[in-house]
Amino acid sequence: MIRPGDRVIDATAGNGHDTVFLAECVGPTGKVLAFDVQEAALVSARTRVADSAWVEFFHESHGKMNLHAGDGSVAVVMFNLGYLPGEDHELTTEAAETLSALEIAARLLKSGGALSVIGYPGHPAGAVEAAVVETWVTGLAADGWRVAKYGAVGTRRAAPFLLLAVKL
Ligand SMILES: C[S@@+](CC[C@H](N)C(=O)[O-])C[C@H]1O[C@@H](n2cnc3c(N)ncnc32)[C@H](O)[C@@H]1O
Repeated sequence: MIRPGDRVIDATAGNGHDTVFLAECVGPTGKVLAFDVQEAALVSARTRVADSAWVEFFHESHGKMNLHAGDGSVAVVMFNLGYLPGEDHELTTEAAETLSALEIAARLLKSGGALSVIGYPGHPAGAVEAAVVETWVTGLAADGWRVAKYGAVGTRRAAPFLLLAVKL
């Protein structure tokens, strides 16, 4: 699904943990495009990524990722929704903008590529967004994608979950 040399996108760079993971997966022959709307996130992510020259950061919304990658050119697009830990919780991903970015991401992915989304239904805004996103991702199955959901059950508060959709 993800190989050295691939072009991939971190749609929500945050503190850069996912960016580092993606950078290690694709290696110096690949390319990671990482987006965030918060300067504090980009500072933190840049520090964590260190000197991986194949990672490029964009201080832009993930809704603009199509300005930097063509349709069918990307192996993985990863969204880790919500707010930046330790920063303003009001500065969070929002359902309408996330849906629009997911539509774009689906076009950018090549066959065999994967869309990964982590939703956080444990707080009110996150619950609304997670529900909308889950419905949208589930709908991809009718278009021939393979879709799965992973998450803890039986928790006191709604637990974060991972949605994974592979474009066949
Ligand atoms: C849960 S954090 C991401 C965690 C990150 N992937 C990591 O590994 O540390 C969510 C991030 O999404 C960012 N964000 C919110 N709206 C965004 C948008 N429209 N485009 C890109 N990033 C956005 C927030 O600024 C925040 O840093």
